[in-house]
Amino acid sequence: MTEKKTFHITTFGCQMNEHDSEIMAGLLLKKGYAQAASREDADIVIFNTCSIRENADKRFFGTLGQLKRRKMREGDAFTVCVCGCMMQQQHIVDKLKAKYPWVDVVYGTHNLYRLPELLDKLYQEKKKQLEVWPEAAGIVEDLPAQRLYAHKSFVNIMYGCNNFCSYCIVPYTRGRERSRSPEDIVREVRALVRDGVREITLLGQNVNSYRAPGAETDFTDLIYMLAEIEGLLRIRFMTSHPKDLSDKLIEAFSRCDKLCKHFHLPVQAGSDKVLRDMNRRYTQSSYLRLVDKLRAACPDISLSTDIIVGFPGETEEDFAATLALAERVGYDSAFTFLYSIRPGTPAAARTDQVPEEVKHERFNRLVDVINKSAAAKNAAYVGRTVAVLTDGKSRSSDCAYEGRTDSFKLVNFTAPADLAACSPVGRIVRVKITDANTFSLKGEMVE
Ligand code: 5AD
Ligand code: SF4
Repeated sequence: MTEKKTFHITTFGCQMNEHDSEIMAGLLLKKGYAQAASREDADIVIFNTCSIRENADKRFFGTLGQLKRRKMREGDAFTVCVCGCMMQQQHIVDKLKAKYPWVDVVYGTHNLYRLPELLDKLYQEKKKQLEVWPEAAGIVEDLPAQRLYAHKSFVNIMYGCNNFCSYCIVPYTRGRERSRSPEDIVREVRALVRDGVREITLLGQNVNSYRAPGAETDFTDLIYMLAEIEGLLRIRFMTSHPKDLSDKLIEAFSRCDKLCKHFHLPVQAGSDKVLRDMNRRYTQSSYLRLVDKLRAACPDISLSTDIIVGFPGETEEDFAATLALAERVGYDSAFTFLYSIRPGTPAAARTDQVPEEVKHERFNRLVDVINKSAAAKNAAYVGRTVAVLTDGKSRSSDCAYEGRTDSFKLVNFTAPADLAACSPVGRIVRVKITDANTFSLKGEMVE
């Protein structure tokens, strides 16, 4: 390269996508590209797209469209790349070809690590690059990643999903389930810890069904293996499917100190009929039994969930079951979604779609219930002194710092000058909670 080109990545969607973007950034930095502070400053703009959220794809096409004028003006000096989940869907690639022919590089979820080669080919051949693989060609190890934080990191343990929930596009965009070997995962985490990482979040669409290739090691065994690593302080994971949550994993919450006391357990709906139609393979009562067991093993565990409102055929009575379940569990937080049609999924073909206004009205009622329990859970922290891993300067309040409790509560806190002198960033510190609202806690560092 004669001069250092700069890049900027915009990420839509989930943590899996965030981590994929960290890997793409790591690869480009290694190749000698430099990171730009904004999209406007970058020579290469990359969009990592999401298929799950309807708004994510509307926002993507909207933002992409805004680049057309710059591309027309600057031509080859400006490169536009799009990748990720949306590209695994043929109708999206067709739309890009027809309406956005000026996009330079198009690739999918299975070949993200090919970005540097695709850029080389683009510049050498002076030809647009379109490379989307229908499925993964094995698992590629040792990809560099540029982490957002020095002290915490995502670690992929498995890819893809076999569950085919009837509303969900993920099995089509991310392919079949495949797990990394425990040896590779341990090696990666050891290297991260040597590099200063104190907290890891294990990522997978359904980490509960992790199974070492050709071996007996399951997800809980993997957690115990990782907990052995000296210097690693916290282990989190995301996401779990209730049907695969074992007693063995529940027991780990009372046996493994490093396992953070937070469980994200997507329920999606409270009515057994809707759960059956969603192909979730559990019932309201079996889900509630899991919640009770988790609380028995770990009384102060915090619980969060995903809930979809307005799945096709959802009646007022079905929705009432969702509200009742949310009230009964008393979640610490929840991601709530309006059901949206994902073309190609079984639920998309149903003729009993719920009208938009009904969905919105139910959504608001659900958010009220969730916010009430979230506020109550947070209020119970006031007066307690908790351990907080400090992430950095506070972004949302006038406090100096922000961090997370073991239970994943966001804490904004101040620090007396003598304590702030030895910067708390990247360390676990003790914070006395003085105030709470629906989404965060406020406090003061005490040691
Ligand atoms: N409509 C609405 N929400 C959806 N999710 C997945 N697919 C859809 C869809 N078609 C939600 C689920 C999942 C979360 C990541 O996104 O709640 O757990
Ligand atoms: Fe989608 Fe269901 Fe797989 Fe989660 S478990 S990724 S909702 S198909």
